[in-house]
Amino acid sequence: MPDDLDTLKQDTLVALEAASDARAWDAVRVGTLGKSGRLTSLLKELGKAAPEERKARGAALNALRDELGAAIEARGRALEAAALDVRLLAERVDVTLPAPPETLGLIHPLSRTIEEMVAIFGAMGFSVAEGPDIETDWHNFSALNTPAHHPARTDHDTFYLPPLAGEGPASRVLRTQTSGVQIRTMLSAPPPIRIIVPGRTYRADHDATHSPMFHQCEGLVIGPASGEGAITLGHLKGTVIEFLRAFFGQPNLPIRFRASYFPFTEPSMEVDIGWSRQTGEIGGGADWLEVLGSGMVHPRVLANCGLDPREWQGFAFGMGVERLTMLKHGIPDLRSLYESDLRWLRHYGSSPLSPAMLHEGI
Ligand code: DAH
Repeated sequence: MPDDLDTLKQDTLVALEAASDARAWDAVRVGTLGKSGRLTSLLKELGKAAPEERKARGAALNALRDELGAAIEARGRALEAAALDVRLLAERVDVTLPAPPETLGLIHPLSRTIEEMVAIFGAMGFSVAEGPDIETDWHNFSALNTPAHHPARTDHDTFYLPPLAGEGPASRVLRTQTSGVQIRTMLSAPPPIRIIVPGRTYRADHDATHSPMFHQCEGLVIGPASGEGAITLGHLKGTVIEFLRAFFGQPNLPIRFRASYFPFTEPSMEVDIGWSRQTGEIGGGADWLEVLGSGMVHPRVLANCGLDPREWQGFAFGMGVERLTMLKHGIPDLRSLYESDLRWLRHYGSSPLSPAMLHEGI
């Protein structure tokens, strides 16, 4: 190898050896094989060599280019591997360190109440049914025996939605009650039926005890009108009493059924629990507090769903989830349920690690 090439080779190999990081390595690569690198320049000058020298010089230059190219590449790989080693060492996980603390969320009291309702009614053989928040006027009112000019409609402060093209006026509403799911359920499958319907409901009302969005839980049981498995008012009372005593955790909670009126039940009953007006204590005192509505499903409602009232009979009930939650936990203002105040949630929330289960007591 000619002296100048040998010098270039030695220089390059020494510089490569000295390059201890990617930057230094790249400088050697560019300085040698780059556009104006030393070897590239020599190759460019080859044309100027005398023809008799050109062949041998060309061969030597090419050989040197291959050799140095391979050396540069090898050094590059070695540097990469070394850098990875350093990183792996630096980023090694110390598995003996204590785990960082987890912040565990809490279940909102409204969700908890719904879970408890599902657990209690679930144990009585009920399943959970759902329906849409945007409901047809027919499901929300008419099929429930509440025709267009029925006075009960005005109590509901309904949010009417603008009609779709081709629809009559007021044909869709934000559901004012979960009762419409009774209709949907009876229309979708034949009895026997045993469902509860926890869900959101809406009314144009807003103060300390009313929110435009709130929750109800409906119940519906339909069975034969007579004979084996017939559903009677006795079942309604037993179911409601069982539920309220389990929910409030009081096996002897005083409960009173009071004649009332709902368009979709006949007879209809409001249900009161014993409490003290003075202390707010549930089960204590001599006062009564209304907690839910109920009744035997009106024959016209059954007929609206294609069920022959001579053949089928049943009961329904409906209650406010907010109301029951506030009573159970002594929450004075409905609005605090929706304020997302973390201090409030930490106080009233319940642990997701102990879900509502009957065998532990609700
Ligand atoms: N839907 C009624 C309301 O919003 C509550 C209710 C009462 C539901 C009696 C029922 C029932 O199923 O039988 O006030």
